[in-house]
Amino acid sequence: MEIISTVKGLRTAVAAARQAGKVVGLVPTMGALHAGHLSLIERARKECDFVVVSIFVNPTQFNNANDLATYPRTLEADCALIETVGVDVAFAPTVEEVYPEPDTRVFDLGPVAEVMEGAMRPGHFNGVCQVVSKLFDFVNPDKAYFGEKDFQQIAVIRRMVELLGLKLEIVACPIKREADGLALSSRNVRLSAEQRAIAPQIHEVLAENVSLVDEGITDVDALQEMVETELNAIDGMEVEYYEIVDPVTLQPAATISGAVGCVTVWMGDVRLIDNIKYPTL
Ligand code: PAF
Repeated sequence: MEIISTVKGLRTAVAAARQAGKVVGLVPTMGALHAGHLSLIERARKECDFVVVSIFVNPTQFNNANDLATYPRTLEADCALIETVGVDVAFAPTVEEVYPEPDTRVFDLGPVAEVMEGAMRPGHFNGVCQVVSKLFDFVNPDKAYFGEKDFQQIAVIRRMVELLGLKLEIVACPIKREADGLALSSRNVRLSAEQRAIAPQIHEVLAENVSLVDEGITDVDALQEMVETELNAIDGMEVEYYEIVDPVTLQPAATISGAVGCVTVWMGDVRLIDNIKYPTL
């Protein structure tokens, strides 16, 4: 595996792979890699001949200075980990390399980016699109891999791809969970032992809510309220939102059939997100 920190070096490596007729896959990450990222890389490995993993904590997508400052940075361990799973290039640039000048682009992302994370974290998705569009430009991948834990992010990136008229395929990969159900996240390491012990209840409450649909409870508002009430009743958790939405538009679901429930929970100063799919009736 080659570790590259310049855009020029990255372009050269990818050009050589293209010249050799290889299918190029990109896995964009912000590092602090865990089994969730590895599952994206494994999928990319299966479907592509040349796999680039970017490791870059993108400042433009953080709307909270403390979150940016405390975001885990573990480049050495990340490289050691992905070396074992057949990555061709780890792209680990500096901020100056990615943003030689401030990125002032504003993407017209529409309603998909206005709800949930878009409403709670102003500018977040614009920042995600700034960096992801740059990575797509640097690598020009055939396929790019994203985890469904950030369900809304995938919808926003699809919208950006449409806006920019890009040809690549966006591959959505299922959420990876700990054995106790907690969705894998780079932020989990910031939970105290007590918080970590109760954090799996987020998924438990969501899964129970989904099972109610099989018992005939299908009212979207009622189901939404139940999740909020149950999670807020757990000492140490505070729900920022629980929204049951249409999986494509991300707008409030008209029917529970095929909808997705997206949650954000604060545990102290750690913000965890998760989601769950409701059955198609
Ligand atoms: O999902 C993430 O880790 C980031 O938002 C991404 C896609 C790597 C862009 O910085």
